[in-house]
Amino acid sequence: ATTLGASAAATGRYFGTAVAANKLSDSTYVGILNREFNSVTAENEMKIDATEPQQNQFSFANADRIVNHAIAQGMKVRGHTLAWHSQQPGWMQSMEGTALRSAMLNHVTRVATYYRGKIDSWDVVNEAYADSGGGRRDSNLQRTGNDWIEAAFRAARAADPGAKLCYNDYNIDNWTWAKTQGVYTMVRDFKARGVPIDCVGLQSHFNSGSPYPSNYRTTLESFAALGVDVQITELDIEGSGQSQATTYANVVRDCLAVARCNGITVWGIRDTDSWRASGTPLLFDGSGNKKAAYTATLDAL
Ligand code: XIL
Repeated sequence: ATTLGASAAATGRYFGTAVAANKLSDSTYVGILNREFNSVTAENEMKIDATEPQQNQFSFANADRIVNHAIAQGMKVRGHTLAWHSQQPGWMQSMEGTALRSAMLNHVTRVATYYRGKIDSWDVVNEAYADSGGGRRDSNLQRTGNDWIEAAFRAARAADPGAKLCYNDYNIDNWTWAKTQGVYTMVRDFKARGVPIDCVGLQSHFNSGSPYPSNYRTTLESFAALGVDVQITELDIEGSGQSQATTYANVVRDCLAVARCNGITVWGIRDTDSWRASGTPLLFDGSGNKKAAYTATLDAL
């Protein structure tokens, strides 16, 4: 096939991108989006600060622009994200304890209910593990009790039984890293106890500090062997030229080698759309031209 989405679909997968609502009026951007991708993740518009800016006052206009665009184009939507320590609205940042636990569960329930039937997969919980040591990250949510993650998953399942429910994190790509093992142990425990989890998202922001690891395929296979799907959810790769292109191809080949790796999402369309302050980590240049990384990705799919 001649596009990323169609090539991925030929093996039952999707190829997605992060989308910003304020770029849906940029015709170059939308042209590439509609041509190449068959899944979208809202880059910021479904986060807690965007959807519940004041407690119990929900705001879905910007998220809806993205969701409606995706549905009109026949694209899947990855919901991102229901419970996270970052990008919390001020009212939530200042909460703790049982009040915060209730507010978090209310948020999960209200947002997942609003979008019921429209979301392929939800990143129910994002980035709950610490960068080193293999344990949980300290946060106001973690301080409500170690069971806050499973409580969020149960609330999401009740609100939208048809959506796949994922745990999403960064630096869980290298199988030897303690953080990877910590998340693996949690998912194994959830599956053993019947906590409703369907998938694990590996953000896969690769750079000199956390490079693409040669054991990436082992990590994908190991999570999948627990009985969950795996997705690459926020892919970007520092660098340029042929070496960057080769890494993109290796990532794609690793996913295709794992039956339960059923989707890849890049974190933006053009290099100028990237959240990275500098660098050229994506598949299209600032003018929307296909880079070597694009060609390598398409060829590997
Ligand atoms: C980033 C967005 O790309 C930025 O626009 C925003 O300022 C900060 O968040 N991990 C995640 C994403 O799960 O939500 C983050 O997105 C990038 C890291």
